[in-house]
Amino acid sequence: MKKIIIAIDGPAGAGKSTIARKVAARLGYAYIDTGAMYRAVTLVFLRSGKPFTEAFLTDLAKQIRISFAYQDGVNRVYVGNEEVTEAIRSLEVSRNVSAVSAVGGVREAMVAQQRSIGEKGGVVMDGRDIGTVVFPHAQLKIFLTASVEERAHRRYLEMKEKGEAVDLDDLKKRIAERDHLDETREIAPLRCASDAVYLDSTSLSIDEVTKQIVDRVMAGV
Ligand code: DC
Repeated sequence: MKKIIIAIDGPAGAGKSTIARKVAARLGYAYIDTGAMYRAVTLVFLRSGKPFTEAFLTDLAKQIRISFAYQDGVNRVYVGNEEVTEAIRSLEVSRNVSAVSAVGGVREAMVAQQRSIGEKGGVVMDGRDIGTVVFPHAQLKIFLTASVEERAHRRYLEMKEKGEAVDLDDLKKRIAERDHLDETREIAPLRCASDAVYLDSTSLSIDEVTKQIVDRVMAGV
């Protein structure tokens, strides 16, 4: 069976990475988390201590070497030789990533890397603009979403499990803010491609959503 490109887009907390990882594992495809790439650029920028300018961020995004390795069930992210899997999930990175990912030069550099990683097929790529900008000809496009309440609740349980203190209302507010920033930015805003399959996972389990996607691939899309 020919290995295709599967694009999964949607807002923060819709379950994209969990679903994308499962779909990739079931099909023997590679999983590429493009949000992690924007987070990596943000981390390196914050560490630099330099002021936020488009020129500096564009240069940084062009130079940075981001790679992924799947080891022991964990999708590890590297910048050069340094593993940044945990560091890119910090609150500080989450707070700044929308601004960094809105810079045109940063997006150009990341999109070029994403195309070269995925062009041969056999990839599940998740993000905000995969079906609209990165691979507008992807054979299968999914727009995965869920209500803000459900997404906040899922994140709340995740963080509680890690022993982190969180306020549900605060989470809801932050998720809604990030949605707004991602949907209204000038370049590559988050939107559902006209030929994407719209999946609302509010009342579906992870396995149900995974099955719906895998079934489509098995049926030849
Ligand atoms: O999926 P995530 O929360 O790790 O994504 C982090 C940020 O990166 C998110 O605020 C939007 C941005 N992003 C993007 O602009 N384009 C993508 N393809 C993926 C993520």
